[in-house]
Amino acid sequence: MDKLLITGPCALSGRIRVSQSKNAYLPLLAAVLLSDRPVHFHNLPELNDIRTMLKLLRNLGVQVLEEGEVTTLVAAQLTSWEATYDLVKTMRASILVLGPLLARFRKGTVSLPGGCAIGTRPIDLHLQNLELLGTKIDLRSGHVYAETEGLQGNHLKLNFPSVGATENLLMAAAGASGKTIIENAALEPEIDDLAHFLQALGVEIEGIGTACLTIYGRDLTRPGNFKEVHYQAISDRIEAATYVMAALATKSHLVVENCNPTHLTCVIDALRQMNAQLEVRAQEIEVLPSALRGISLETAPYPGFPTDLQAQLTALALTAEGISVIQESIFENRFMHVAELRRLGANIELKGNIAIIHGPGTLNAAPVMCTDLRASAALVIAALAANGTTEIQRIYHLDRGYEHLAQKLAAVGAHIERVPGPAI
Ligand code: UD1
Repeated sequence: MDKLLITGPCALSGRIRVSQSKNAYLPLLAAVLLSDRPVHFHNLPELNDIRTMLKLLRNLGVQVLEEGEVTTLVAAQLTSWEATYDLVKTMRASILVLGPLLARFRKGTVSLPGGCAIGTRPIDLHLQNLELLGTKIDLRSGHVYAETEGLQGNHLKLNFPSVGATENLLMAAAGASGKTIIENAALEPEIDDLAHFLQALGVEIEGIGTACLTIYGRDLTRPGNFKEVHYQAISDRIEAATYVMAALATKSHLVVENCNPTHLTCVIDALRQMNAQLEVRAQEIEVLPSALRGISLETAPYPGFPTDLQAQLTALALTAEGISVIQESIFENRFMHVAELRRLGANIELKGNIAIIHGPGTLNAAPVMCTDLRASAALVIAALAANGTTEIQRIYHLDRGYEHLAQKLAAVGAHIERVPGPAI
C-alpha cells in the first residue's frame, strides 16, 4: 500500500488546476446504459471510483475505448444485467446502474451495498420510488432483483433530497412512459449536470435547477432513440474547495483554477466568515494569506454546506483563532478523521454529531491513517500545516476521489512524496 509523506509547514504558491467532477461523472457513466449510440466523455478523471464504474460497465457488456482525453462508451448490447458484489462493495454508487437498466432493458440486479464507513447509507428511497414507477423488487441473498414490464411515469415525492436516489430516478424516468415528476429532488450541481446530459441525449426535462423535476419519458427498448453525444462533466467543487482550504491552512497565496465558484457559494460565504481573503472570479478562486477565526455551522443538502467538506473544514478550523462548532447533519459517524487529527495534536471534542474545535493549536507530525475519502483530505490539510513529516497511510481512499493529488500539490510547492508500498 502506498503512503504519503508530507513535511510541513509548507507554503503553497502558484496555480492548481481542479479536475472534472467524480461525483458528476459516476451517474453520467451509468446513464450511458440508456442509449445504444456512442457517448464521448471528455476528461474523465483518473480515479479509482471512475475505474470501478468503467469496470462495472464493461462487465455488463458496454464497449469502452479510451483515447487521450476522450473516453467513448457504447452500450449497444449488453451481456449481463448484474452489478456484482465485488464492485458494489467497493463503490456504493454502483446502485446508479439500476435505474437505467430498468429503463432500457426492463431488468437489473445489483448486489446490496453493505454498511459503509460513514454510516449505514440505506437505498430505501431508490427502491421505493422505482416501485412507484412500476418495478417489481425482490430482495434476496444480498441482492436487489428488479424487473418491470415497462416503467410507467408517476408523481414521486422524496422524503429526503437524496442525491443518488434523485439521479437513479431521473435516469429511470427517461425510459418511463408518460410524465414523471420528482418532488423534493436534490439540488446538487451534479444533478443539473446529469439532467443536461440527458437533455443532450434527447430526453425532455423541465425544472432543472429546482427541487421539482418533470421528465417526459420515451420508449428506450427500441434502437436509435437517442443521439450520439460529446459531453464534459462540471469541475469538481469538492476538490476545488479542498485546495482552497489547504491554501488557507498554510497561509498561502494560491489560485485554484478550472472551478465554478457559483457551485461553492455557501462554502465561500463560510470561509469569508472565517476571515478568509478570497478573490472570486468566473472560473477561479484566488486565496490570499489570511488570519482565520473560528466558525459555527452545520452540513446540509445543497445549497447548504456540503458534508463532503466537513472533514476538511474541521482540519482548517484547527488553524483558526478561537472555537469552531461543526455539526454533521447528513451522515452519522462521519467524524473518523477526528481521532487521526488528534494524533497530530488537535484539540477537538466530539459530542454526538457535533465537533468542537479549539484553535489555533500547534500541530506536530505523526503517523496517521486514512479512514474514508474526505477524512483523508482533512489529514492532508492538517499535515501541510503541521511541523515535521507526517506519514499518511491507506491512501487508496484518496485515490478514489482526488486526481494526482501528490503531483498537483508538489507542483505548487508542497513537500509531499508518494512512497510506493507492496500491493494489498
Ligand atoms: C452523494 C455523494 C456523496 C455525498 C452525498 C451527500 C456521489 C457518488 N456521492 O452520495 O459524496 O456525501 O451525496 O451530499 O455523488 N439516504 C437514505 N435512503 C436512501 C438514500 C439516502 O436514508 O435511499 C440517506 C443516507 O443514508 C444519508 C443521506 O440520505 O444519510 C444522504 O444520502 P445521499 O444524498 O443519497 O448521498 P449519496 O447519493 O449516497
